[in-house]
Amino acid sequence: MKFNLTVAAASLLAVSLATPAFAQTSGADVYKKCQGCHGATGAGNAGMKIASFKTPAVVKESDAALTATIKNGGGAGPIKMPAYAGKLSDDQIKAVVGYIRTLQK
Ligand code: HEC
Repeated sequence: MKFNLTVAAASLLAVSLATPAFAQTSGADVYKKCQGCHGATGAGNAGMKIASFKTPAVVKESDAALTATIKNGGGAGPIKMPAYAGKLSDDQIKAVVGYIRTLQK
């Protein structure tokens, strides 16, 4: 009985310690920096000539291709995608790519 309580307490501690670290790399959190151009739902911005993340061509892009765009920036329109290499960690970029995938559903 005592052993079980110790295990339960240790698991609770592990969860409470893990939560803040997870929140820091939450894709939804990182995406707040992107909303101004890509929209809260990833629908893009017609006036800025930014396509929706749901555009079939963007859905088809690999995670590696999306990661490269996020790191290096670019774009052919009047507004350029800023380069986030050095501004976001690899974990944050991975998290935000995962979040973009949820916006594509
Ligand atoms: C200043 C405006 C701006 C901000 C801020 C911005 N982007 Fe972009 N992003 C663009 C533009 C412009 C493109 C090129 C879009 C196009 O060609 O349709 C682009 C393209 C992309 C693409 C490639 C898919 C596509 O539509 O071709 C991804 C993925 C992306 N952005 C993710 C992000 C993420 C993640 C963030 C935040 C960390 C972010 N963007 C912030 C403007 C922005």
